[in-house]
Amino acid sequence: MARPIIIAPSILSSDFGRLDQEIAAVEAAGADWIHLDVMDGHFVPNITFGPPVIKWIRKATKKPFDVHLMISPADPYLEAFAEAGCDHIIVHAEAGPHLDRSLQAIKGLGKKAGVAINPGTPEDVIQYVLHHLDLILVMSVNPGFGGQSFIPAVVEKIRRIKTMIGSRPIDIEVDGGIDPQTAPLVVAAGANALVAGSHVFKGGTEEAYAANIAAIRTAAEAARAKAAA
Ligand code: DX5
Ligand code: ZN
Repeated sequence: MARPIIIAPSILSSDFGRLDQEIAAVEAAGADWIHLDVMDGHFVPNITFGPPVIKWIRKATKKPFDVHLMISPADPYLEAFAEAGCDHIIVHAEAGPHLDRSLQAIKGLGKKAGVAINPGTPEDVIQYVLHHLDLILVMSVNPGFGGQSFIPAVVEKIRRIKTMIGSRPIDIEVDGGIDPQTAPLVVAAGANALVAGSHVFKGGTEEAYAANIAAIRTAAEAARAKAAA
């Protein structure tokens, strides 16, 4: 059975002055998960927010918080992110020397565990940790900023990861430059969860967000139907 198509808006492109309202709007507009981009100014050249902000916005929705940690080291902070209300905790394979240990720690905290891989990182890094994984986040831009262009070389990587995971119940999530043009490429290759920031939040209203999410979802479902035909 194919895993459901998931749309995960990244609040990085929302109005940070009214985050709770933006999250409520995007939930009403059809978001499945809320993607939270945590950046430390060290692993990536940008800084966003951490557990205290997540704890506050946790009140705005019951949707799963899909938390993308772009921080190094990550291990000392995993417990704080779990306590703040994160549902999925995703660490970068490149962010520390002990990926297996990080994933074990996330599972030990009772959360879903994910690993993110940068565009330049080969998929082999996940080969021996597949048994820990609930999701794999394939970066289709270099992390740090919203609004960058999709890197087409990741499509082949997604295809290889899909083969690698076989029938394991693991979501393949793609992050960066996703819109109705690029979503079909990654879904046809085997991805099922789509992060989108700038495309979802353009327009600034709940109506616009609903149309933006629907456009990505329709394009993704059509690509899946075509691939299955
Ligand atoms: C980049 C972040 C992404 C980003 C996606 O470091 O991980 O989640 O916000 O933004 P768009 O959809 O604008 O590429
Ligand atoms: Zn992200």
